Order: sequence, then C-alpha cells, then structure tokens
Amino acid sequence: SMEAFSQAKFPAFSAEAHRGGRGLMPENTILAMKNAMKIDGITTLEMDTHITKDGKVVVTHDDYLSPGFMLTPEGKEIPASDSKKYPVFQMDYSDLKKFDLGTKPLAGFPNQQKIKSYIPLLADLIDAVQKDIKVNKRKQFFYNIETKCAPQGDGITNPEPAVFVKLLMKVLEKKKILPYVIIQSFDKRTIQLIHEKYPNVRTSFLVANKKTYEENIADLGYKPFILSPEWKMVNKELVEKAHADGVKVVPWTPNTIEDMKHLRGLNVDGIISDYPDLLVQSK
Ligand code: G3P
Ligand code: CA
Repeated sequence: SMEAFSQAKFPAFSAEAHRGGRGLMPENTILAMKNAMKIDGITTLEMDTHITKDGKVVVTHDDYLSPGFMLTPEGKEIPASDSKKYPVFQMDYSDLKKFDLGTKPLAGFPNQQKIKSYIPLLADLIDAVQKDIKVNKRKQFFYNIETKCAPQGDGITNPEPAVFVKLLMKVLEKKKILPYVIIQSFDKRTIQLIHEKYPNVRTSFLVANKKTYEENIADLGYKPFILSPEWKMVNKELVEKAHADGVKVVPWTPNTIEDMKHLRGLNVDGIISDYPDLLVQSK
C-alpha cells in the first residue's frame, strides 16, 4: 500500500519537453531534461519508459535498441538488419548502458547537440532532476511518464502490464515525486491498473485514431485526468467536450510555432513538443 499524498496543482498550461526536447538534445537523457529545465516557461518533462531483463525501469522510447542513431559499445551503427537484435526487455541494464545514443543525431533533428549519452535509469534521471531543482533553486517540474507497454504484449518486448506498473510505481513512490507525476500510455491496460490501484495518481490516455472523444473515453472505461491526442486530431469540439467532462487536453507533438499557436487558440491545456524553445515562444 502507498503512502498518502495530495496532488500538486497542475500548471495552468503544461508546456512539455517531448523526450526532454529531442529537437535540441539526445532524447530521453538526463542532459536533455536538464537542458529543458533551463528554458523559462517549461513546466513538464515528457519521457518514455521500458523495463529491462533485470527488472530496472529505464528511460527510452523503442522496444529495441534503435538502428539509425544508437551506436554499439564499439561505436558502430546498428545496421537496419539488426533492428530486432536488441530487445530492451531481454537485456540487463549494465549492457544497455554501454550503447551511445547521443553522438549521432536522430534523423529529422539535425540541430540536436552531439554528446555521447546513454540510456538512464528512471531512478537516476529523477535524482538528477530533483538535484538540479534544488541546486539551481528552480520550481518543481512535472513528470509526464509514458509506459511503453505494447498493447499486443508479446512477452519479448514487454512484461505483463501488472509487472510494468508495479516496478514503475516502486520507483516513483521511493523518489516521493507522485504529486508531480502523470502516467501516460497508448496501452490502456497500464493506466487502467494505475487508476484502479492508485486512484490518486494522475493518468493520461494517449490516442492517435479517428475515434470520437466519447469513443475513446468509453474504450478506456474511465475519465482520465488528461486525454492526449495526436495534435492533428484536436479541434474545438473535442476540447469543449473534454472540458465539459473535466478532462484536460494535451496534444503531441507539434513542432512549429504556427501549429502551436493554432492549438493554443483551441484552448488546449498544454502542448508536448520536441522544441521546448519554440513552445515557450509560441505563447
Ligand atoms: O506523449 C505523447 C507522445 O510522446 C507519444 O508518442 O511515440 O513520441 O512516445 P511517442
Ligand atoms: Ca512518449
């Protein structure tokens, strides 16, 4: 059972650095998070989590170590033919962390800084963020943490949702940041479990589909704190319906000031962007 806590007041507008702001820094790294925290107006750090073979919660996006930008411990590119060679869930953390994800920028993000980086443990990332807040006297940031638990759950790339949730919650409880946490997922099972077992923890339902607002909520089976749609799905009607229901709308991932202004005009409650610098300029 969990220690009681009360939720922190959610930002009036949640300005979120997607994967820590991968337009600027290697994604899902401690360096990215610290960089985003320096941008005045950013309130929230978005990140993705997976589970390793040895049961550690790590911050990384893909099911498999990614050809294209991740380099092997020998500094070699992972060839496309090896795209299924390194399932995160089948590797121990000590092996995972030898791969470099920062020397070669991600395709589509040529301005990303090139800095040798590694996949962090969620626990270490939280420690680094909290330390930065303390040392630099920053305001407390919110953490928007995604469970990358594939709905098809093949047993190769993900544990059972209940195991994923248990391991994740253990880290978050230990670090005492739950008042500042949102758990988000495309996998409704993980957030349904959070909602049942930890009703006090905020959840966000990620959607990228042609369903209506009502269909998505019915599909989830409860009203989440946030509905987080692919940004092109968002229109006035969706935002109005969500707000009438007490649900916030936080779209992902517009990357131009023009698109961000358009969404702000639709009265969204936050935006998740790869360019946290442009996001604060779009105000
Ligand atoms: O937070 C929403 C967004 O991050 C979902 O897409 O693939 O970048 O994790 P993805
Ligand atoms: Ca994500």
